[in-house]
Amino acid sequence: MATEPSHSPADDLLDGGLDVLHRKSLTILKRIRDSALDPETGQKRGPTFPISKAAKLVGRTSSAIREAERDGRLPARGRTASGHRVQYNLEELDNMREVFGTRPWRQPEDPAAVISVCNFKGGVGKSTIALHLAQHFAIQGYRVLFIDCDSQASSTMMFGYRPDVDLGEDDTLYGHFHNPELLGLKKIIRKTHFHGLDLIPANLRLYNLEYEIAGYLARTQSAAIIDLISDAIETVVDDYDVVIMDPPPALGMVSMAVLQAANAMVIPVPPSLVDFASTVSFIDMANTTMKQLEELGGRGRPAYNFIRLVGSRVDDSKSMHREILSMMRQVFGGSMSSSVMVTSAEIDNASSRMKTVFELEKPVTSHEVYNRCMKHLVEVCREVENDVLETWTSSRGGRRP
Ligand SMILES: Nc1ncnc2c1ncn2[C@@H]1O[C@H](COP(=O)(O)OP(=O)(O)OP(=O)(O)O)[C@@H](O)[C@H]1O
Ligand SMILES: [Mg+2]
Repeated sequence: MATEPSHSPADDLLDGGLDVLHRKSLTILKRIRDSALDPETGQKRGPTFPISKAAKLVGRTSSAIREAERDGRLPARGRTASGHRVQYNLEELDNMREVFGTRPWRQPEDPAAVISVCNFKGGVGKSTIALHLAQHFAIQGYRVLFIDCDSQASSTMMFGYRPDVDLGEDDTLYGHFHNPELLGLKKIIRKTHFHGLDLIPANLRLYNLEYEIAGYLARTQSAAIIDLISDAIETVVDDYDVVIMDPPPALGMVSMAVLQAANAMVIPVPPSLVDFASTVSFIDMANTTMKQLEELGGRGRPAYNFIRLVGSRVDDSKSMHREILSMMRQVFGGSMSSSVMVTSAEIDNASSRMKTVFELEKPVTSHEVYNRCMKHLVEVCREVENDVLETWTSSRGGRRP
């Protein structure tokens, strides 16, 4: 007897083609996104801290906080069912810093740090480092703007958006390019679940900027358009201490505009020969491109206040990684960070839940893996924070330990 050919889910997808595949993928994305949201507010939840950690973050002692709550300078604190003080969120930390006079904001004469986390190589950990850096600065009390400049929009997704469903083209830098008068950069800046961290999101439509800028350049023969992002940042930068840009992994028009807008670079480099070689090409190409832009009459070559290379996706149990790291330290010298981003299951696990490690309420793997990953992340972020503080004359000498 002839048997019916079995019809697998893969056959279903082939039957319906890419359209079905796309719809099914969106359902999965929605499911993951929904599980990352707080069921009460429908938003992602920002981090909260017990009083001891809050005290460290605001630069005072726990007893100073308790005293301020007693004498009414800070609001009285509620208790949990088990009698502990309810944990403090970032907005409450900001209020404490205001009361205690410990906000770390830059003085108006200090330049905001406009950092591009860049490398033309894909998958080296740019978005991961950019997001953790942005959240680190916000947790420390700085005012931060994150600009997702990559049409893949993986960072935008980590803020709780389904980029191509929840956002239109006018919500991104693409909208700003087409209608700066109407939209203004302020209209495309969104508050996020992290108090103190604002976002300009991206989605797939942003990719059109690549050929639209190229077309504009060809028509006008003027490089002024490359100042698009730089000009946009200038209009809002007074409100921020740090701007972090997450560019796409290619030397396209948007990447050029990002290089032009930045006054500092963080370059993630995994310790493999291939990644090292392509990072060297990236530095060479970036240099050549900036020179060409200058010749075309753009704003001129930006002076980078610092360039920090960070070993990323490092597995120090591999002797080859250790060897290449040591070679990179010889070549790049003081520009190479002394701490590295280790490859950690905690980062992978957190990102599969649409979270950063700083957003995890508890370890996904084990306390040991989590603590180790957290230690490396914080060390890398602190090094970059110190690079920024060194550019602020008003805080010179105030490097963090
Ligand atoms: N240190 C790490 N440990 C474990 N996983 C990591 C680490 N860094 C990045 N990843 C994972 O690797 C993948 C790529 O990382 P990420 O998106 O940060 O790279 P990228 O350079 O921004 O990529 P693209 O070039 O596509 O923009 C992500 O799934 C991320 O979770
Ligand atoms: Mg990325």
